[in-house]
Amino acid sequence: MIEFQNVSMVYPNGTVALRNVNLTVEDGEFVFVVGHSGAGKTTLTKLLMCEERVSGGRLTVGKFKLEKLPKRKIPYLRRTMGVVFQDFRLFDNKTVYENVAFALRVIGERPSIIKKKVPAFLNLVELTDKAECFPDELSGGEKQRVAFARALVNNPEMIIADEPTGNVDPKMSEELIDLLLRVNKLGKTVIVVTHEKALVDHYKKRVVTIQGGEITSDRAGGYEE
Ligand SMILES: Nc1ncnc2c1ncn2[C@@H]1O[C@H](COP(=O)(O)OP(=O)(O)OP(=O)(O)O)[C@@H](O)[C@H]1O
Ligand SMILES: [Mg+2]
Repeated sequence: MIEFQNVSMVYPNGTVALRNVNLTVEDGEFVFVVGHSGAGKTTLTKLLMCEERVSGGRLTVGKFKLEKLPKRKIPYLRRTMGVVFQDFRLFDNKTVYENVAFALRVIGERPSIIKKKVPAFLNLVELTDKAECFPDELSGGEKQRVAFARALVNNPEMIIADEPTGNVDPKMSEELIDLLLRVNKLGKTVIVVTHEKALVDHYKKRVVTIQGGEITSDRAGGYEE
C-alpha cells in the first residue's frame, strides 16, 4: 500500500510543490494522476522513489516509511518499483539492449536470465530491431518504450509512469496504457501520471487530480460519463 498522510514538499528555493496531500493507493490498484503543468505530479513520483524527501507529513510505500528511511536503504525501496521518467533518463553511452540489461545487472541478476529477459521485453515494446542503437539514434517514442522495457524488466511490485505517452502517437499511447493494464491484471500497482484528458476518460479508472500542489478530486474507477 502507498499512503501519503498530510505530505508537504518544499524545494530548497522555497517553492511549495505539494501541500497537505492525503492519498492511499491499495496494492493492485490502477490510478491516473492528472493535473496542469507545475501542479506537482512529478514531485509526487520523486517522493515515492525517495529522489526527493518529504518536508512534512508521512509517506509509506509498502513496508518502507519514507519520511525516516535511511539513505542506505533507498536501493531496497527502488527495487520494488519500476519507474518510467518524464525525461526517460536513458544512458546515452549504452545501447538499447544495455539500457534494459543494466536494470538487471545492478541487482546482480544471472547473465543467463539477462540473455532471456532483455530480448523478451524489447519484443514486448516492439524494439527488437533497435537493440543495438544508442538513445540518440531513436525517436522520442522509441526512447519512451526503452524506458518502459527497463521499468518492467525487473518484475517490480509497482510501476510508476510519469507522462509515459507524452511522445507517442494516439495508437501507441493506447498500446502502452494497455500494456500497463495487463501488468496491473497480474496484480501490480500502477500509477500513471498524465495530462492527456482523452486518455484518462477512455479508461474509466480511478483519477486523482492535483492542482497547485493539492489534491482537488479523487474519482473512483468504473464511473459513467
Ligand atoms: N528542483 C526544483 N527546484 C525548485 N522548484 C521545483 C523543482 N522541481 C519542480 N519545481 C517546482 O515545483 C512545482 C511542481 O513541479 P512538478 O515538476 O512536480 O510539476 P508537474 O505537475 O510534474 O508539471 P509538468 O506537467 O509540467 O511535468 C512547480 O512549481 C515547479 O516549478
Ligand atoms: Mg512533470
